[in-house]
Amino acid sequence: MVFRISTDRHMRTSFLFVICALLHLTSVPQEMEIDFKSGKSMYDAWCARCHGLDGKGGGEGLELEVPAPDFTDCSFNSREPRKDWKAVISHGGGVRGLSMSMPAWGEALSEEQIELLIDYVKTFCNDSRWPQGELNFRRPQVTTKAFPENEALFIPTYTQSSAKTSTAKFVYEERIGPRGQWEVALPFVSNVSTFLYEVGDLEVSGKLLLFDHFASLTLVSAGWEVGVPTGNKARGTGSGTWKVAPYLAAGKGYESFFLQSSVKYEQPMRGNERKLFYNVALTYPLTTEKKGLIPMLELNVVTSLPERRSSLYLTPQLYIGLVKRGHVALSIGAQLPIAGEGPFDYKVLGFLLWEYADGGLWW
Ligand code: HEC
Repeated sequence: MVFRISTDRHMRTSFLFVICALLHLTSVPQEMEIDFKSGKSMYDAWCARCHGLDGKGGGEGLELEVPAPDFTDCSFNSREPRKDWKAVISHGGGVRGLSMSMPAWGEALSEEQIELLIDYVKTFCNDSRWPQGELNFRRPQVTTKAFPENEALFIPTYTQSSAKTSTAKFVYEERIGPRGQWEVALPFVSNVSTFLYEVGDLEVSGKLLLFDHFASLTLVSAGWEVGVPTGNKARGTGSGTWKVAPYLAAGKGYESFFLQSSVKYEQPMRGNERKLFYNVALTYPLTTEKKGLIPMLELNVVTSLPERRSSLYLTPQLYIGLVKRGHVALSIGAQLPIAGEGPFDYKVLGFLLWEYADGGLWW
């Protein structure tokens, strides 16, 4: 009896030993194949079980809270700045408000290895027409952005003048292909004393990214706006004429600040009140996170043609990233007249911005 038990034990132990040895044999060559200097090799070994060898996501049989994204979808792959991916790979999905199903690798991998992984993940989109997310500088109040966007905005404005008007504008922007965007904006205009909002002039526009250079953080776009006289001229809610307004917009990033500028020429179809708008915006983020405070200062010039009368405004403002993922933000500012012949009315400006392709408005 005693003898048999010990034989059984012995056999069991040998059996386990063989299994372990087999497992060891099968796992050793696999681990040895990982080249810690190759993004592809590390990705295939550690990331592919959730993200797929082809980058399209996978994770079959794994209980992931949300599906892994499709890295071959250029609109997703190009949109995310590398530093945000670096944060997510180092600290896990939670750091940018994403799912914790995306694990943290910062303890196991060096910064260099994470960079190599990002380089590799970026290659899943091999269409260089898509501009990188680093060029998507934050939206100023007046200066037109050069980057094509998927955004919805609510823009309330209050103008201190004899009429004391306030407007509430709704804007919808959608990307077309890698470099285009169309946009529609509908303002509602009110006389503050009556608090009745009426439809103002509808604006429709298209924008095309002409040039972008990732290494120097530079981009230039051209666009075309059309103003439709849906407002009422007599009641001060519209201009009473169609308008066309071609524009150029540019941006340049530096180590710790960003410059954006736009020039627009506005031509009414009726009347001769042409206008030129020049804007420059300086952004100085106080954080490298997406949630946080980002102060900006704009200089806005409006020149009325043909008289060439110009008015100058300074527009200090604060952009506030409301969520970790950065896709919902608020901005508040004031446009203050500093020189020129225009009516010296100040404006209080704001917007609520939602990059709807990156997540819901409330989560
Ligand atoms: C256990 C499964 C799993 C593993 C392993 C994994 N990921 Fe992920 N990863 C996810 C999931 C799920 C998401 C989506 C999270 C979300 O959108 O909320 C994600 C998201 C990402 C994102 C997108 C972040 C963004 O901004 O949307 C990147 C980049 C990424 N993973 C890289 C990697 C790399 C590199 C590795 C390997 C070192 C890796 N992942 C390993 C599950 C995984």
